[in-house]
Amino acid sequence: MAKLNIVKVGDEILRKKSRPVTEITPRILQLLDDMKDTLHSANGCGLAAVQVGVLRRIVLVETEPGELFEMINPEIISVEGEQEDLEGCLSVPGKYGITKRPMTVTVRAMDRNGKTFEVTGSELMARAFCHELDHLDGVLYIDHAKMLTQDELDELYEEE
Ligand code: NI
Repeated sequence: MAKLNIVKVGDEILRKKSRPVTEITPRILQLLDDMKDTLHSANGCGLAAVQVGVLRRIVLVETEPGELFEMINPEIISVEGEQEDLEGCLSVPGKYGITKRPMTVTVRAMDRNGKTFEVTGSELMARAFCHELDHLDGVLYIDHAKMLTQDELDELYEEE
């Protein structure tokens, strides 16, 4: 178990495409454990392997504390509706933007035992699925977000 460093925007690795996992090795299991520690210590709701410097198609999403989804080779298989809300990223600290995402998203992925599963999430969970899967193709939310200004950020922090 270890907390890994989170790669920040500006690092070219975040723009690279991650490769599928072909075999669940002890190293992959270790990576999943380390990513979980890293996500929890950063208080995030999602993390992609590329954010800890590993170009593999692996993401974690935990929008409800204790309800962690480990997704290997995840794919979006259906989307429905639309939402517009606030989004941030552990690789882009201190910034937030407004993005448009589907309201409901279904993802098919493999778990750590190699078993395929499907999960459907709405609102924040749907947003997190899209955000994390984008990371696997080198896409960051700042590419298509309307970023908050400093005044808007100040207001946001005041509300907290
Ligand atoms: Ni992110």
